[in-house]
Amino acid sequence: MALSTPVSGLTLPWLVLLLFLEIPGAGAQKFQLLQPQGAVSVSAGETLTLTCFVTGPAPVGPVKWFKGLGKDRQLVFSDLGSFPRVTRAVSGSNTDFTTHQWQRPKERDYRCVKVKKASGPDEEIGSGAGTNVTVRASPSAPSVSGPPSGAEPDPSVTFTCTSGGFSPRDITVTWLKNGAKLPAPEPRILPEHESVSYNMSSTVGVSLTPGDAHSQLTCQIKHSTLLAPLHGTYNLSDALRVPPRLRVGTDPAAPVTLNESVTFTCHAEGFYPKDASLTWLENGNETHLGKSSPLAENPDGTYTLQSSLEVKATEQRNRSMFTCRVVHDSQPPVSASEMLRISQPPPEPGKDDTLSDAGQSLFSSPALWIGLFLEKVLTAAFLLFLFLRSKE
Ligand SMILES: *[C@@H]1O[C@H](CO)[C@@H](O)[C@H](O)[C@H]1NC(C)=O
Ligand SMILES: *[C@@H]1O[C@H](CO)[C@@H](O)[C@H](O)[C@H]1NC(C)=O
Repeated sequence: MALSTPVSGLTLPWLVLLLFLEIPGAGAQKFQLLQPQGAVSVSAGETLTLTCFVTGPAPVGPVKWFKGLGKDRQLVFSDLGSFPRVTRAVSGSNTDFTTHQWQRPKERDYRCVKVKKASGPDEEIGSGAGTNVTVRASPSAPSVSGPPSGAEPDPSVTFTCTSGGFSPRDITVTWLKNGAKLPAPEPRILPEHESVSYNMSSTVGVSLTPGDAHSQLTCQIKHSTLLAPLHGTYNLSDALRVPPRLRVGTDPAAPVTLNESVTFTCHAEGFYPKDASLTWLENGNETHLGKSSPLAENPDGTYTLQSSLEVKATEQRNRSMFTCRVVHDSQPPVSASEMLRISQPPPEPGKDDTLSDAGQSLFSSPALWIGLFLEKVLTAAFLLFLFLRSKE
């Protein structure tokens, strides 16, 4: 190894002293360790190049690279020794100690240090200013997950957004529902300790409403490595379940005349998602006579199903229970019932309805009573006349 010799006339101890005191104007020949990079930002997986130059006369001995400061520092490279992941940029150079290294660099302060070979233990006679290495890694595209199965509206449903592999640690997560910001707690970033890269998970509680069939949830992440925020979306329809509201009615309205035809209608309203099946039961027995109209979509994205069942109001059917049963989205069935009530037949069979009505109104008329009274008076007068005649 060739050695630069001191030429300035300064003795070596003086030179060393000047180096430690960093006296300016010590001359161009002064021994110096130059670490021109104050900070370096490197993408994960990229090769990190750390630069260190020696100027001026240097004593015999290697230049070493350390990570960190103080007693916790770690030797990352020396010409002597095996450092498989590090190579010298200019092999064997006495002035250029630049190294290429580290497929997995750590975020840390790196320093080159000049060691002087001495008879006793090696002596460190100079150190570069240090290079602060930041490993930059972009977060993965965020992914949003919802509840495992459909959730009913009202209670708050939890959604989770995850992203990983980013560095530095700072990341901003924003939740949006249909573009409007939602309040959410701070994201959880792991690991807690210093690491090459980090993962985050953020949760938000969303109260679903039946109208959310068309709503979209967005998880937006911002990171220093990103030019534009990344988005993960979730269609709330995937998490929404709204059970149907049932309504059963009859036409004509109860009570129904005997042997008349009556139509039961069932409305299953405002449900989501759309898979639903409707069946009719008569006294608990399934009947296949119901007619369903096509599924209708409501403006809010929910659905309505309607079915009618026509039956004849026979005497055996009086007080029969007609039930509309709906199975929605593989949930337990919901049902609503209506009883068939058939009115009492006319009291005197064979007699016409209109006549009986007329009779009734006649009985309630005062004229009838006056007529009957007059008839009795006339009968009595006639009987009295007959009696008086027989006496003569
Ligand atoms: C239901 O159906 C069964 C068999 O079809 C029948 O035996 C039973 O009487 C029915 N019950 C009613 C209440 O209609
Ligand atoms: C049906 O039942 C109701 C109550 O039991 C009764 O008042 C009515 O007369 C019945 N109708 C017929 C047609 O039997």
